[in-house]
Amino acid sequence: MTFQEVNLKRRSIRDFLDKPVSDDIINEILKEALEAPSSSNTQPFKVVVATGNILKSIGNELTQKYKASLTLRKQNIIGKILTARKYGLKPNKVYETIQGKYPGIYQDRRIKTAVGLYKVLGLKREDKKKRDEEMTKNFYFFGAPAAIWIFANPKMKYTALVDTGIFMQNIMLSATSKGLGTCPQGALNLWREPVDKHFNVPKGYELVCGLSLGYPSDDKVNFYRPEKLSVEELLVSKK
Ligand SMILES: Cc1cc2nc3c(=O)[nH]c(=O)nc-3n(C[C@H](O)[C@H](O)[C@H](O)COP(=O)(O)O)c2cc1C
Repeated sequence: MTFQEVNLKRRSIRDFLDKPVSDDIINEILKEALEAPSSSNTQPFKVVVATGNILKSIGNELTQKYKASLTLRKQNIIGKILTARKYGLKPNKVYETIQGKYPGIYQDRRIKTAVGLYKVLGLKREDKKKRDEEMTKNFYFFGAPAAIWIFANPKMKYTALVDTGIFMQNIMLSATSKGLGTCPQGALNLWREPVDKHFNVPKGYELVCGLSLGYPSDDKVNFYRPEKLSVEELLVSKK
């Protein structure tokens, strides 16, 4: 595939085939991703790859946490505190996920993208139960047989996130070029304990993002193409 083909083919995949991805392919993807530029070649990231029973176990625990977090809505403050304690719901505080609304136009774009996705899924925005069910799929990786968590060292300040983002995009494009699909998931940045239970992430590395990896199914959800900005909207005008 040419770069244009790979770039256009990469979309966030939210339904995967029940088909394993070999360790050799995962290693090849990571090797290609490591060709990414990084500030002074510092490569301030570490990666966890989970498959098989370990992935299942992490997925079960994340799903349990997410389902418990949904019950918080209906609880008073004491109930919230007790449930949060019981299920370890304190979210990642270093590279934080926004809880609630995004600021300004970003919330508008977020809603537009979500509404487009719900339309493809035949889901009404008011149907909170169905939306929760869709959201829950994040925590079992949309059925993917592999997931990757990327950690970065915040001592590298802003370059930690820039370098990690570039590296992640290399993973996604490399995977796409091999007929695989990915979904980058901020949802997988909420809680790291289930991952820490199975992997020795070195001290000082903080969770940035997770992504699901596998072979895309033919489900309609995988053909959703949310609108991107035009170049005119992107460019800052001259004075
Ligand atoms: C940092 C980041 C976090 C994301 N988090 C999620 C997520 O938690 N769940 C999800 O389904 N998609 C998630 N996405 C995918 C975006 O929704 C998707 O990239 C966007 O809608 C554009 O669609 P495209 O990837 O198909 O071009 C995330 C993407 C990025 C880059």
